[in-house]
Amino acid sequence: MSFDVEAIRREFPALHQEVHGRPLVYLDSAASSMKPEAVIEALTRFYRRDYSNVHRGVHALSQRATEAFEGARKAVAAFLSAGEDEVVFTRGTTEALNLVAQAWGGKVLGPGDEVVLSEMEHHSQIVPWQMACERHGATLRVLRIDERGAIAEGEIERKIGPRTKVVAIVHTSNALGTVNDVRRIAEVTRAVSKDAVVVVDGAQATPHGPIDPRALGADFFAFSGHKMFAPTGIGVLWGKRERLAEMPPWQGGGDMIRSVSFEGTTYADPPSRFEAGTPAIGEAIGLGAAVRWMMGLDWAAVADHEDALLAYGHARLSEVKGLRLTGTAERKKAVMAFAIDGVHPHDLGTLVDLEGIAVRVGHHCAEPVMKRFGVPATTRASLALYSTRAEIDRLVQAIDKAVAILR
Ligand code: ALA
Repeated sequence: MSFDVEAIRREFPALHQEVHGRPLVYLDSAASSMKPEAVIEALTRFYRRDYSNVHRGVHALSQRATEAFEGARKAVAAFLSAGEDEVVFTRGTTEALNLVAQAWGGKVLGPGDEVVLSEMEHHSQIVPWQMACERHGATLRVLRIDERGAIAEGEIERKIGPRTKVVAIVHTSNALGTVNDVRRIAEVTRAVSKDAVVVVDGAQATPHGPIDPRALGADFFAFSGHKMFAPTGIGVLWGKRERLAEMPPWQGGGDMIRSVSFEGTTYADPPSRFEAGTPAIGEAIGLGAAVRWMMGLDWAAVADHEDALLAYGHARLSEVKGLRLTGTAERKKAVMAFAIDGVHPHDLGTLVDLEGIAVRVGHHCAEPVMKRFGVPATTRASLALYSTRAEIDRLVQAIDKAVAILR
């Protein structure tokens, strides 16, 4: 197999439109990706034909819906080289990380214990663990990052120790693009604290291909559907079978129980234990369609395409006078964030939008990263497999034009 970006683009209807009278250039895939026909069709088919609640009916439609929903779990399990019982559906990465922080954090954390996370974490990893530490009297320790946006030399060995109960780490940073060496972090963790768990935010990693979280050394791995060509409102918490089995439920309700009486309730096995209430059925089916679609691609070829594009983007952006890239780590993926002297990112974002170009401006829900680089905000252009060189050229052209107006 090889990779034909134009053929891929034809599968994404939303890419082919004009915005402000100009052909759309969509460079905001780290915020949310566009959807291929395969996903749109799966959603339409479900709502037109197979719609019903799941796990609750003997009638034909409920059985069809249940089959499609559980089929999606099977597809996600294949994408993760995991067992179906290790795939918990959530609303997204944020909910998955809150689930672990509350349920696992509540089980293991106490005074004197430490949760280690990095300075490049998204707020969805920082805040739930901060809340868990406050609730249980544990301490948060931070792995500082260097000027290129990688975890600074020696920080992992310095901060992870025998008191560490949780290491919460982003696989690929949404604000910098840095790809962390999760395997090494997990190895260090296991060597110094035998009962610590490694909780990985995989939201920016899964849009770039299948991942085996167990081989990465993770105990828990969270990601969102909407960044990987699937609908919003659906995500996954993968947990090692043995960890999920030990973890208490976090929300009570239908579908997560074995038996309920006023004397006491017993809980279902994972993954149902963590899926109280009617789930996001259509969205899960859409996620199933997205991962099936993804698994039909040649990911080595996609990586070559995306990495060449990132290098090209870096080179082209470096031509802009006064532009400073934030995030130049050696291991990096799909994100080009930058600040330009004398230009506010929000003004820049507004002017490039008028040229039909979508980028994200702001702190990207990673305020500590902005603080580290001494900027209030950055402009971020982010790539997906459907991005092209011509789009980067259009971006650089639009930046030049905007800077001439704003300076
Ligand atoms: N976390 C998403 C982003 O980076 C929304 O834009």
